[in-house]
Amino acid sequence: MQQKIDLPGVRHIVAVASAKGGVGKSTVTANLALALKAQGHRVGLMDADIYGPSLPQMLGVTTDEWDRTPEPVEKYGVKLMSMGLLIDPDQAAAMRGPMIHKYLQAFLTQFQWGELDFLLVDMPPGTGDAQMSLAQLVPVTGAVVVTLPQQVSVAVVRRGLAMFQTVRVPVLGLIENMSYFVADDGKRYYIFGQGGGERIARETGIPFLGSIPIDPRITESGDRGDPIVHAEPNSSIAQTYLQIAQRMKAELDRCAREVAPLPELDL
Ligand SMILES: Nc1ncnc2c1ncn2[C@@H]1O[C@H](COP(=O)(O)OP(=O)(O)OP(=O)(O)O)[C@@H](O)[C@H]1O
Ligand SMILES: [Mg+2]
Repeated sequence: MQQKIDLPGVRHIVAVASAKGGVGKSTVTANLALALKAQGHRVGLMDADIYGPSLPQMLGVTTDEWDRTPEPVEKYGVKLMSMGLLIDPDQAAAMRGPMIHKYLQAFLTQFQWGELDFLLVDMPPGTGDAQMSLAQLVPVTGAVVVTLPQQVSVAVVRRGLAMFQTVRVPVLGLIENMSYFVADDGKRYYIFGQGGGERIARETGIPFLGSIPIDPRITESGDRGDPIVHAEPNSSIAQTYLQIAQRMKAELDRCAREVAPLPELDL
């Protein structure tokens, strides 16, 4: 089997994934990165969505901000590399699987990520080439799975889980996005039903990391290039992302403890 790339300065590589598209992976990845940064960690963001990169826009970084050196671009104290920085945003990145593998390999090996506590990887939707490639290329510490309440079908989540199991990547937890809407009266409205994410977490045995409300400020701040955790760090939404980051770290610690120690060798 091909030797994995060694990134000695990177402590944890975490993939943010979902079997379905448009559930808020990139938004979660950007805000989670800024939450970890706010908690004092060194953070990198790698956009593995080669066809539809969205992190540059979400972080307000344009193609001319990358100076064509092997240094990732830095924004809000977080390092970023994305296909969206290499090509014009309206230039479609039509590529076949082997090219995706090559680009991911280049992002990982040709850029100086330096010392990082977390390298978060924003995955494209699905369980295809990019997911398999990433797991083949680097030792992924774990994956975080994002779902919507109404899409929380056991079948979909299980499909994602099975894929990570095949490539031996532990699933750190499930995040339910667009869970509820807080109206002006302060009441929570569970538009798509309540408790789906937690139920699925129980049924699949995956830890539940938290629920993020549906809120126009999340969309607007993302469109503006200043994610809510950075734009409004004291908002309750930012606090929710910070809590999710804490729970994710707790799961990473738990996974690290569960790695079996080397057996006593009788030499
Ligand atoms: N909690 C939320 N509240 C309101 N809007 C949200 C929320 N989460 C994400 N969005 C919005 O939903 C849209 C899709 O989000 P995003 O691009 O993060 O999804 P994705 O899963 O990365 O999509 P893709 O599968 O295409 O990569 C964006 O416009 C984003 O701003
Ligand atoms: Mg995305």
